Amino acid sequence: MKPVPRKILNVPQIASSEITPESVWLDRRNLMKAAAAGALVNTLPTQAAAAPAAKPLSYSQAKCDACSTEETLTPVEDATSYNNFYEFGTDKSDPAEHAHTMITDPWSVEVSGLVNKPGKLNLEDVLGGFDLEERIYRFRCVEAWSMVVPWIGFPLADLLRRFEPTADARYVAFKTLYRPEEMRGTRSFTSVIDWPYKEGLRLDEAMHPLTLMTVGLYGKTLPNQSGAPLRLIVPWKYGFKSIKSIVSIELTDRQPQTSWQELAAHEYGFFSNVNPEVDHPRWSQRYERRLPSSLFKPNRVPTQLFNGYAEQVAGLYAGMDLSKYY
Ligand code: MTE
Repeated sequence: MKPVPRKILNVPQIASSEITPESVWLDRRNLMKAAAAGALVNTLPTQAAAAPAAKPLSYSQAKCDACSTEETLTPVEDATSYNNFYEFGTDKSDPAEHAHTMITDPWSVEVSGLVNKPGKLNLEDVLGGFDLEERIYRFRCVEAWSMVVPWIGFPLADLLRRFEPTADARYVAFKTLYRPEEMRGTRSFTSVIDWPYKEGLRLDEAMHPLTLMTVGLYGKTLPNQSGAPLRLIVPWKYGFKSIKSIVSIELTDRQPQTSWQELAAHEYGFFSNVNPEVDHPRWSQRYERRLPSSLFKPNRVPTQLFNGYAEQVAGLYAGMDLSKYY
């Protein structure tokens, strides 16, 4: 097994932007709550989105209880400046600084493997062909920081059903774009990931209604550093399962290899369900730093089993020893 460089796995430092116009977001939230009482669809552009190319999206409000939360939103500046996207470097600020070099238009996603109708989806089919909704989810990184983000997307299940998984399909394997000329982190001699970045889910996890194919955040299309134009969000799992900038989805009958398992399987399991009872070998998972967080205001909150989504997802793991299948 390759050694894991300290830089990649270090518990991160303080969020770079601690002064944030949160009021912009709170105002908008109240507006949207008011709007939700009447027409569901809204096209309010946000003033605070970060990436220059971000476009406003049309979407409806979340349709299930667990799809939203009253918790304070993480300001957009924090969510889009404190990122993990190793294709662009290992510092939290690298993705916001360098991911603009990734070309995201045109874009297509290939769906292959154990499906009756393999094929490709262009970005236009993705943006125009599914009902987009906003989901306000807690997002918990394995490094013990967390955010609350209004994502925009649609259930991954809606996409998979179009390609008709066969009866033999048991797992879903995802891959990120790999274009070294546009991704400075992949060219770095200190890079230890065997690119492209790979992730996977069991089919029942992939089909779960909380699993979101995500195309936007804070009312607009995803900025590159957040995984434009299409990423996964699996809110009850550690953030590294939420693979960014997806170009390939393959249905398989075997558990796929993931990038983090390849690097350090004893530290990063296939399931990676958020669990305060199962510590990472090098740090506790009992608490998390809710961004924005600083040395003087760490904003430490207790971590919840399945990141607070146990009622919705615990059944997927009935009878499994969660410390063994971590
Ligand atoms: N996807 C790709 N392709 N490359 C990455 O380095 N990092 C993962 C995940 N998806 C990563 C990725 C990790 S470790 C986390 S915590 C989340 O993205 C971070 O998402 P965010 O930057 O939007 O907070």
